[in-house]
Amino acid sequence: MDFAAVHRYNPGLLRIPAIPHSGSLLMSDSKKPDKARRNLVVATSVLGGAATVGAAVPFVASLLPSERAKAAGAPVEIDISKLPPGELGIFEWRGKPVWVMKRTPQMLKDIKKDDAVVVDPHSTVPQQPEYAKNEFRSIKPEIMVLVGICTHLGCSPTPKLQPDGDMGSEWQGGFYCPCHGSKFDLAGRVYKGVPAPKTLEVPPYQFLSDSTILIGEDKKGA
Ligand code: FES
Repeated sequence: MDFAAVHRYNPGLLRIPAIPHSGSLLMSDSKKPDKARRNLVVATSVLGGAATVGAAVPFVASLLPSERAKAAGAPVEIDISKLPPGELGIFEWRGKPVWVMKRTPQMLKDIKKDDAVVVDPHSTVPQQPEYAKNEFRSIKPEIMVLVGICTHLGCSPTPKLQPDGDMGSEWQGGFYCPCHGSKFDLAGRVYKGVPAPKTLEVPPYQFLSDSTILIGEDKKGA
């Protein structure tokens, strides 16, 4: 791995109550703030973050990939140590939102309840890395890593992380795309009978430590 090509995100955190329209990287669970599971939005501006550390700016800047490298998809290294369980962290990779969440034991149980209502419950369709071909579509069951873009026409779905609320009594928590009504569970698996044809993309990734994930490059160098 080329260390100099790793895009380090500043750990500064920002909480927001609502979802800007498509094209934005920021989303929330609903228009009504949910104090129990507020979405956690992780600052995605390295330059903005670096500006807060004063003298460190020249050094940090020297580690950043060039604009050309970022456009080509340089991997990004993210720190999830401050991400509370059950909250959604949103990071940027290749200009796309990448959703990362520490799923709670209850969330993992709830995902199993969705097996009957999703199209590909065990991820047998070859559309994710080999290590995500499982029910939870992840390397570690408790850590969710997904590209937050609807597989229908590319809107960014709204997190509806709660198993109750306005999604009906069968809803176990997941993501709802308001553009045309597609639904995905907390593993990104698409529901049957919705416009989206496929589950949400799992990007190539690997754990550099328990709290650090490299997005955009796995152990095969994808
Ligand atoms: S873009 Fe998501 S349902 Fe159409």
